[in-house]
Amino acid sequence: MSEDSPAEILPTHTRELFEAAVRKSAALLRAGQVVALPTETVYGLAANALDPAAVARIYEVKGRPAHNPIIVHVADGAAARECADAWPEAARRLADAFWPGPLTLVAIRSVRIPDIVTAGGPTVGIRWPSHPFIQAVIRECGFPLAAPSANLSNRLSPTTADHVRKQIGHRVPLIVDGGPAQVGIESTVVDVTTAPPRVLRPGMVHEESLREVLKTPRTEAEGTPVPAGTLRSPGLLRRHYAPRAKLTILSWNDDAELRSKLRPDRAGRTHVIAYQKIPSPEGLAGVSVIPHDAEAFARALYAELHRCDDLGAEGIVVEAPPETGVWRAISDRLKRASEPES
Ligand code: TXA
Ligand code: MG
Repeated sequence: MSEDSPAEILPTHTRELFEAAVRKSAALLRAGQVVALPTETVYGLAANALDPAAVARIYEVKGRPAHNPIIVHVADGAAARECADAWPEAARRLADAFWPGPLTLVAIRSVRIPDIVTAGGPTVGIRWPSHPFIQAVIRECGFPLAAPSANLSNRLSPTTADHVRKQIGHRVPLIVDGGPAQVGIESTVVDVTTAPPRVLRPGMVHEESLREVLKTPRTEAEGTPVPAGTLRSPGLLRRHYAPRAKLTILSWNDDAELRSKLRPDRAGRTHVIAYQKIPSPEGLAGVSVIPHDAEAFARALYAELHRCDDLGAEGIVVEAPPETGVWRAISDRLKRASEPES
């Protein structure tokens, strides 16, 4: 595939366009190609999960390390169970409560799933997304789709078709525009091979709701710490999901305090993203305000970070969000996007 022919970008905003884009996507996927598709969390880079050569293209396009497994996307519960060798009670409950939706279940893989999808490991991540477009493509194909986020490895996930185009638009034949992602950050990943299950990556299906469905008390649901040296979820590497600009998380009470925390020679190239204590834009590269509820914040966050990168910001300062409940996943992504302290 040529590196310099740009991807075709197909809209989906009428029934005819939607159906034409489903047919085109399915044709490419059946031919072993990769296609960028919308999901409700972030855009995904999809390939036939049962075709090792097609999945290999995903790793190639993203520059993804071979040890990082890829989530398999299905469009019904029976297809999910065919990916797994065991479907424990916890999986059944979580699937009933949150699928289709922004939740990935890590289960013991079945023999159908090629090694390249699981990075050679004994488990497979499975998700039934709620976005109608990817559901329609999976049904049309008749096979599950392996799909990581449609960004270059270690870069920010895309929440619009244009974000995908800017990062990998010359490496894929087709990008389907299904509108801005409604959730805006990646799915919650829960390992159901342990009792109790444990969260490998927080997301907008948060711990409190998981616990309620699993009926596990707080202390139990937290599980045991991951032993050192075991990469339970390679996506949990410290720095991940990062914009190009240096991101810092700060709290301040007023403009003067914010300014005292910025290096004077850098302030003019620093973009501030705030939701509560909105600073005056004077002397800053820019100020964005994002909404003060967790769902709206998550939906807007990556688009704001992409925009700062597009504007060439050198630094991004994000007003520190709460660390609790529904905010935990947002706080997690911001920490991963920020520079290590030392
Ligand atoms: O919302 C999402 O999950 C999006 C959309 C496209 O579905 N996908 C996504 O995929 O974020 P990716 O590859 O960018 O992140 C998946 C994360 C990675 O951290 C990966 O290591 C972890 O899930 N993962 C996948 N399979 C796993 C497995 N079998 N065991 C442990 N972790 C796994
Ligand atoms: Mg990713």
